Amino acid sequence: MTKRVFIATYGCQMNVYDSARMAELLAPLGFGRAASAEDADLVILNTCHIREKAAEKVFSELGKLRVLKQRKASRGSKMLIAVGGCVAQAEGEEIRRRAPFVDLAFGPQTYHRLPDLVARASCAGGEVVETSFPEEPKFDHLPQERAKQGVAAFLTVQEGCDKFCAFCVVPYTRGAEYSRPVMQIIDEARRLVASGTREITLLGQNVNAYHGEGADGREWGLSDLVRALAEISGLDRIRYTTSHPRDVDDGLVAVHRDVPQLMPFLHLPVQSGSNRVLAAMNRRHTAIDYRRTVERLRTARPDLALSSDLIVGFPGESEEDFQATIDLVGEIGFAQAFSFKYSPRPGTPAASAADQVPDAVKAERLSALQALLARQQREFNAACVGRVLPVLLEKPGRHQGQLVGRSPYLQSVHLAAAPDRVGDVVPVLITGAGQNSLSGMVAA
Ligand code: 5AD
Ligand code: SF4
Repeated sequence: MTKRVFIATYGCQMNVYDSARMAELLAPLGFGRAASAEDADLVILNTCHIREKAAEKVFSELGKLRVLKQRKASRGSKMLIAVGGCVAQAEGEEIRRRAPFVDLAFGPQTYHRLPDLVARASCAGGEVVETSFPEEPKFDHLPQERAKQGVAAFLTVQEGCDKFCAFCVVPYTRGAEYSRPVMQIIDEARRLVASGTREITLLGQNVNAYHGEGADGREWGLSDLVRALAEISGLDRIRYTTSHPRDVDDGLVAVHRDVPQLMPFLHLPVQSGSNRVLAAMNRRHTAIDYRRTVERLRTARPDLALSSDLIVGFPGESEEDFQATIDLVGEIGFAQAFSFKYSPRPGTPAASAADQVPDAVKAERLSALQALLARQQREFNAACVGRVLPVLLEKPGRHQGQLVGRSPYLQSVHLAAAPDRVGDVVPVLITGAGQNSLSGMVAA
């Protein structure tokens, strides 16, 4: 390897997957991984546009990279700066204007062209912006061979979204919904398992809308895919994220009942507990629909733990609407959840709504909601103490002789174990619980 690439990843798990694929695309060109931007010939920021804060972070990071690039240039060495991901897709031209020292901007659907784009950027001397939505699916052009991933790996099966929630940029940045063919996914899963992966999280912006071409030419849903993946020997655990409540069909409920490898933890964003707000968000489900869906899932898999995304201060949200969110959260009981202040995003319908909620009100609601969610998470974790949970050991912990693994419910578990146990699923007696993790010891 003669050159080095540093990839910084922001945002969602799909970006984590994409960054790994970018590294795999660049390896044949002689790029090894750099540990920091300082010792890289190429720096890629793989960015997120979901909220304003995420997008602004990119420009502040670019400010630092500009200084680094100048310093290197004064020493006679060259560093290319590339911006990939959703900010590049949405603001390619803005990047060219605000950060002309950026050599290359490319969107999430064009990174399979990275070798060519990098070659063009390094000799052009002018910036290259590639934010088209190509006809050909990028997955057909990614290397078949995967670099060794961790014990737990991500695998994108579906991408993009046709739902157009009124707050969300994803349909614009990731484009229309696309499902990869089943065989391509199964091949990739087999390769991951062969290289040591024990747990795969199937990724999609709307993963349970998956409708790929099956091995039999028929269209397969996510439940068919999960059943097929469960046949791969050595694949101990399967998860999927992110789901839409609208697309939880009976087949999917049934795999939670039937497939032991499918972990009893589901991230199922509800966004709000108020029907009025849900309608304004164009979510296409009510709070009652959500309650029923959770009930169906819990009937199929009684120990299913739930996670969610919630937005406070969506335009027009009244105190009463917010209370409906608090009530719903109280009723469902989440093992963990992400909650956000509504952030107006350029080009989305809600951004131009007249009845924006003042920031102070958003902040107040967010802290009330987060206090409730934190309490639920602590209670859920505390209820695990005294139980024996199967834990997949993932990596060394912070202290010597310690490993960190994951419970079925995606909690981090710290315990004493030999380093060669990484990759094993072991029974662990949970002895301690904190806000964000558990501790325990290998059970006899
Ligand atoms: N403002 C705040 N939160 C948002 N999300 C998506 N768009 C916005 C926005 N404009 C949240 C949603 C989604 C998660 C990934 O991010 O809750 O589920
Ligand atoms: Fe962020 Fe959404 Fe893009 Fe993921 S898909 S990086 S969450 S904007």
